[in-house]
Amino acid sequence: MKTCGSATPLGNSIIEMTSAAMNDFEAVWERAEDVFALGAHSLHGPDHWRRVEAHGLEIAARSGADLTVVRLFAALHDSMRWTEGGDLEHGHRAAELAAGLQGDVFQLDDKQLELLLEACRHHNLGRVSSHPTIGCCWDADRLDLPRVGIQPDPRFMSTAAGRSFAQNGEY
Ligand SMILES: [Fe+2]
Ligand SMILES: [Fe+2]
Repeated sequence: MKTCGSATPLGNSIIEMTSAAMNDFEAVWERAEDVFALGAHSLHGPDHWRRVEAHGLEIAARSGADLTVVRLFAALHDSMRWTEGGDLEHGHRAAELAAGLQGDVFQLDDKQLELLLEACRHHNLGRVSSHPTIGCCWDADRLDLPRVGIQPDPRFMSTAAGRSFAQNGEY
């Protein structure tokens, strides 16, 4: 009998099914909404998270990124905000939440988890990243700045796709 590690099409599809089952994005969203303190209509709430996810998928299609990490970042990065204004620690709190959800509603490998935690922890510090996945996460977040009256600035984008979207007003 072949194991899950086999390279057969059946083995690969089992691995994919298992992986998909272990990353329960719907449950991740429920957890994020449960802990979010600012309400469904917050500028930093679920509507924003959905737009970040959409931007992230658009950027990833052009620049490359780990889609699982990008989708988890979208759902979690602002979920631990306690105020609508300055809240410098919310990225750190989001990373702590993400670490606690690992093995519960999603299962990342060590490298993916490291990327997710880094993307959450430092997303609100104005940095850029040369890593395609972290850059994708941060660009996706910044492309939704118009919701607070700020136009995305190509100089603060990490990826070529993010710069292009910002430059051309595509957000
Ligand atoms: Fe944030
Ligand atoms: Fe955000």
